[in-house]
Amino acid sequence: MTTASTLTPISKPFIAEPSDLILVTGAGGFIGAAVVEALLDLGFTNLRCFVRATASASKLRRRLSQHSRGVNVEIMQGNLLSPADCARASAGVSVVYHLAAGRGEKSYPDAFLNSVVTTRNLLEALVSTGFLRRFVNVSSFSVYSNRGSRDTTLDESCPMESHPELRGEAYTFAKVNQDKLVLEYANTYGVPYVLVRPGHVYGPGNLPMSGRVGIDTFGRFLHFGGPNPIPLTYLNNCADAIVLAGLHPLADNEVFNVVDDDIPTSRQFLRQYKHSVRPFKSIYVPHAIAYLFCWCWELFSDWSDRELPPVFNRRRWHAFWKKTRYSNLRLKTRLGWTQRVSTAEGLRRYFDACRAENLNA
Ligand SMILES: NC(=O)c1ccc[n+]([C@@H]2O[C@H](COP(=O)([O-])OP(=O)(O)OC[C@H]3O[C@@H](n4cnc5c(N)ncnc54)[C@H](OP(=O)(O)O)[C@@H]3O)[C@@H](O)[C@H]2O)c1
Repeated sequence: MTTASTLTPISKPFIAEPSDLILVTGAGGFIGAAVVEALLDLGFTNLRCFVRATASASKLRRRLSQHSRGVNVEIMQGNLLSPADCARASAGVSVVYHLAAGRGEKSYPDAFLNSVVTTRNLLEALVSTGFLRRFVNVSSFSVYSNRGSRDTTLDESCPMESHPELRGEAYTFAKVNQDKLVLEYANTYGVPYVLVRPGHVYGPGNLPMSGRVGIDTFGRFLHFGGPNPIPLTYLNNCADAIVLAGLHPLADNEVFNVVDDDIPTSRQFLRQYKHSVRPFKSIYVPHAIAYLFCWCWELFSDWSDRELPPVFNRRRWHAFWKKTRYSNLRLKTRLGWTQRVSTAEGLRRYFDACRAENLNA
């Protein structure tokens, strides 16, 4: 079921006027393009969409063509690794939605460059403009450590991973350092920020299954976390939350987790996937065995002096496969966010897109 967006009342006392210049980085990406559309639907008329690749720019231009009447949407191409491009992007903007990041990067230097160095360049450029009212950094659940007691609820009070270099994931390493950098600029220069941390954002455009459900690395699908809820948020629900966090007067210097209601367990998700997309064989790995597996891998990786990369380890088990509940209470109570696309409808659209891709493969 789809209900109207929660973002309708532009008369709300948002911190920006409809004609104020808003910058969206990573605007050609999966979530960035949905954020741009949500802003346009809400009545914002002066957007700067920063994209890196020529192909992303053309795709975004085509996608936004139906919104073009009466609005000023500038598609600016560049690379946030260039301070000059960051200065161009920052000129005159009052709200920034920063979504550009090295999401698919497997190497630590690439992930660091495209998530941390880019963010530093952008913040450097922004502090000198004097216009900035809010910097929305789109972070991730992956920054949390979640190593507390068993059966926990993960909310905004959870600590960040203290040693992201030991998690075996370049992405987590970069995202933790990106958040720390934003906090550093807030403390040093008074940058007004919001950290938005989505769980796994799904929908047509992002079809790979979350690693929380399992992995396909060893020739047979290993299914993890059977009864664990999977922290899904459908693309448009997540985009609504990000947009609200950038405009709501009560969001300054806050952290907001983004996760939908009625999320499926890992087992339910896998069962529906097999039924709706394609059948395949999987082996269920119980929690304790998964933990032992991660621990043994970690020990062997240490023993081999990291010749075996530490891609499985206990920190990752805690973050990914430990039984955890997720809360979106702060998002609802402080920002008034409600879920626009129900989980049943979101999953239906997602499975349809997976099936279509499967047929074309
Ligand atoms: N998808 C999820 O499940 C999820 C979950 C939690 C958080 N997030 C966060 O949400 C944000 C958006 O993710 P997404 O899923 O939309 O990823 P995406 O589709 O890969 O979009 C990221 C965009 O960043 C751009 N980019 C990367 N390096 C850049 C650079 N040096 N200069 C300028 N642009 C650069 C990429 O441009 P090109 O198109 O040119 O490569 C890409 O369009 C990221 O910060 C991500 O960490 C995503």
